[in-house]
Amino acid sequence: MTLTAVEAAPKAELHIHLEGSLEPDMLLALAARNKVAIPYKTADELRAAYDFANLQEFLELYWAGQSVLLTERDFYDLTHAYLARAHRDNVVHVEAYLLPQGHTPRGVPFAAVLDGALAAFDDARHAFGITGGIILGLNRHATQDDALDVLRAATPYRDRILALGLEGPEKGNPPSKFTRVYDQARDWGWHLTAHAGEEGPPEYIVEALDVLKVARIDHGVRCDQSPDLVRRLADQRMPLTVCPLSNVMLKVFPALAQHNLRRLLQAGLCVTVNSDDPPYFGGYVNANYTQSATALGLTEIEQQQLVRNGFVAAFIDDDLRARYLRDLDAAWPQGKA
Ligand code: HPA
Ligand code: ZN
Repeated sequence: MTLTAVEAAPKAELHIHLEGSLEPDMLLALAARNKVAIPYKTADELRAAYDFANLQEFLELYWAGQSVLLTERDFYDLTHAYLARAHRDNVVHVEAYLLPQGHTPRGVPFAAVLDGALAAFDDARHAFGITGGIILGLNRHATQDDALDVLRAATPYRDRILALGLEGPEKGNPPSKFTRVYDQARDWGWHLTAHAGEEGPPEYIVEALDVLKVARIDHGVRCDQSPDLVRRLADQRMPLTVCPLSNVMLKVFPALAQHNLRRLLQAGLCVTVNSDDPPYFGGYVNANYTQSATALGLTEIEQQQLVRNGFVAAFIDDDLRARYLRDLDAAWPQGKA
């Protein structure tokens, strides 16, 4: 099978939840290995449940699915499987969310979660040359005190965690709830990002920028309800980590053809393309690119710009960024408009 240019190009993936990369087959295998009872017997039964009216319905299944993850080996296997799959999509740099609050309340040691995932990143660097690291995710429906406990537990990992992020049910949980946590992570020198403007209003994007001082917005697609905000995001070249298939599966847009990704790109925003929770939403990063390209009629130059933006928005130093941009230019010479 010949790959399209965008499929073959080296890419960054900046918005992927490791727990959301749990494939049905692995979920069943881990349930059996760990003797965790789940209400599904086959992968097809699980896939049939991937039908969501909104973010909350997805989150409930996503949290239930995480119950099979118990040991350091489980977190290694989960992370390794995702990185190997991303490598097949020619992803060369990954920044992946990991959610300790999804596991420590079930008695899983914080160290098992982090050590397993970090070891898989180390091995993927050697095996595939993949760079990147972990975004420590916070559940936004939990309290700020809970979040501060997570940061305390993360202290021994301070130098091995790339960034802080915010995920979970957005409405009613504004970014400003986590001001002190973000202040501390900034003092530690971590990069900062947050989900905002997926289901929540444009004001949450503004709060993430002004109060949490994030360098990137996850999703952010509801910015288009505020022309002033769209202008600001374009002027600041503030990256959005957009997840087109996720947005359709969670009814943020009725269909891919109605997605605003192309409009935002044309308005000058630094839009990137990512997979969010690939088995749940029907595709890894290449599927997000190719299906968006078809549904929205993206030109080759627009597709190249999206890939390029992934490296521009990555939390990497300027030398590595320049190297990745050169590699991209070499692999995919200037496309057609
Ligand atoms: N939004 C909020 N929380 C999440 C998501 C998302 O798209 N995916 C996994 N956790
Ligand atoms: Zn997400």
